[in-house]
Amino acid sequence: MNQAELHRLLTAKSQERKGNILLSSYEQRLAVNLSLIKTQFFSLYQEKEHKAFFYTLLDKLETLYNDRPKDLQNQDIARLNSGNWYQSEQMTGMQLYVDRFNKNIKGLQEKIPYLEDLGINFLHLMPITTRPKGENDGGYAVNSYHDIDPEYGTKEDFLAFSKKAREKNMFLMLDFVVNHTSDEFIWAKKAKEGSQHYQNYYYTYSDRHIPDEFEKTLPEIFPQSAPGNFSYNNDMEKWVMTCFNTYQWDLNYRNPEVFIEMLGNLMSLANLGVDVIRFDALAFLWKKIGTSSQNLPEAHTLISLFRMCLQVIAPGVILLAEAIVAPRNIIKYFGEGAAEGNECEVAYNASLMALLWNSIATKKASLMVKSVTEIPTKPSDATWINYIRCHDDIGLGYEDDIVRATGYDPYAHKQFILNYYCGKLEWSPAKGLMFMYNPKNGDGRITGSAASLLGLETALEQNNKNIIDYAICKILMLHGIILTYGGIPMIYAGDEIATLNDYSYQQNEDQVNDNRWVNRPMQNWKTVTSLNKQKDKPSSIIHNGLKKMIRLRKDHSVFADTNNIKVFSCPNEHIFVYQRIDENKSIWVLSNFNEVTETLNIGWLLSIGIHTDKNTVDLLTGEPIHLIQNELPLKPYEQLWIKNI
Ligand code: GLC
Repeated sequence: MNQAELHRLLTAKSQERKGNILLSSYEQRLAVNLSLIKTQFFSLYQEKEHKAFFYTLLDKLETLYNDRPKDLQNQDIARLNSGNWYQSEQMTGMQLYVDRFNKNIKGLQEKIPYLEDLGINFLHLMPITTRPKGENDGGYAVNSYHDIDPEYGTKEDFLAFSKKAREKNMFLMLDFVVNHTSDEFIWAKKAKEGSQHYQNYYYTYSDRHIPDEFEKTLPEIFPQSAPGNFSYNNDMEKWVMTCFNTYQWDLNYRNPEVFIEMLGNLMSLANLGVDVIRFDALAFLWKKIGTSSQNLPEAHTLISLFRMCLQVIAPGVILLAEAIVAPRNIIKYFGEGAAEGNECEVAYNASLMALLWNSIATKKASLMVKSVTEIPTKPSDATWINYIRCHDDIGLGYEDDIVRATGYDPYAHKQFILNYYCGKLEWSPAKGLMFMYNPKNGDGRITGSAASLLGLETALEQNNKNIIDYAICKILMLHGIILTYGGIPMIYAGDEIATLNDYSYQQNEDQVNDNRWVNRPMQNWKTVTSLNKQKDKPSSIIHNGLKKMIRLRKDHSVFADTNNIKVFSCPNEHIFVYQRIDENKSIWVLSNFNEVTETLNIGWLLSIGIHTDKNTVDLLTGEPIHLIQNELPLKPYEQLWIKNI
């Protein structure tokens, strides 16, 4: 593109952006987004120095658009006219490791009927592209953004799989590891061979001066297994920034070429037929001495720049923010203020996830209620991924001021939660492990499978029917919340059959340093086969319970996410109550976090809109709700989905 062409586009009549505008022709979309792309680009990269790169970017956009497969282009256009599919109540997701689920991509394809039977129509597949042998952070050290690792199959296998998924209306999400590459990635290899050009793709330094300055304020992510934020590379004879593991080199987005090339890598991933791109560790994208280098304004601009470009090239593809940061910071990844809606369409609801685990340990919903009602509402075009467990650890991301306002001391409270889940309290049924405890500041995170953290492993060991029942109720209750809360529920593979911790990682030299592997089990197909034969086993009860709740979710349009949720400050601090609002079709979800029966008074129920006559039913049982002396009882860990008929 030349200057005259740029000027023509910038002054075209259609230039003004309006919200989430999506237009059908490439030219129109470019005209609409161009002025913003230009402003953002030059706010990150000085115009005087980097003008030529801007033209390179514009040419790249066109090339990338032309390279997008025709069928995906058609799908992009079709999506422009069909509302926000990702906010629909029909969406129910599962996250899985292709190899641990069923060997490889072909194996996964064979299991589509299993997933469909449960009601899953959205899959987050963990990294499947090439990676270093040995330790590779579960594939988050990438050797390529689009070459499929032979362990998983071939590109043809994946294209066949994504085509099949599209035919079945199943959506796919893959990771874009945007913050770093592996130390075997082609750019890192060239950097190691001495290329200054590629050394500038990373943060590389001949001496410790700048690394020391950075480390004064950079937090450590893996303080036990990978302390510090820089690694010395003998080939380069230089230090390179490695915020995660030593073999994951942080990309230097201060270099515009890195952004332009990474946009190409993003598209190579999207062109595999991916609907949602998970922006991995995106809070870390911009580094600045004297700061934590997380959540910086430039990182937001960069994400928005990716998003604006993607909207021009492939408007049907959306972005998920993997920002596991404090609640008030997460919400910013949707774009805020004038830029609302300009970043990611979807974000992990890591706040709700951490609060749910807090509520289980404290047996109270109070901190959760206070937190979710104080955090600003997300933009109306955005949605959450609601989840209980994923492949990672549980970070206790609470806002200290809210913890204090709930009556806890933040430090002591965190220690209590860690102790509750990590085997330090004799009375706790939870079986989890401590992840990356940092004695310097008392920070630690938790690993373990949902079932083990919720007490099933202990209960089975003790062969205690009562605790087994409690664990089952807790597992169903938490899933009931993610299925109804507003957003896409994401079930972690194995949780649907109550899979316990997998300790085999301790015998594997590539995994032993990272106890997140305790919650990355192999899918147990034997258990799946026995589901219909042994109906009273925990795995069967949970599988059937989930299947039913998923069906109910899909049958009620009120569960579509239109920000139609009201969380109540409930007179009983053990019960979490919210309403999914729709004039005549509202549904109230009530969950008792206590291990004894708790009650709610008729007066309060009426005040929030719940009728209490025989026409008021609990959708989970199909029975009318039953009050005793004007009180509605909820058994330990019981959940009700109440509807006035
Ligand atoms: C994300 C992933 C995590 C990985 C990290 C570094 O947080 O979820 O598993 O270790 O990024 O890529």
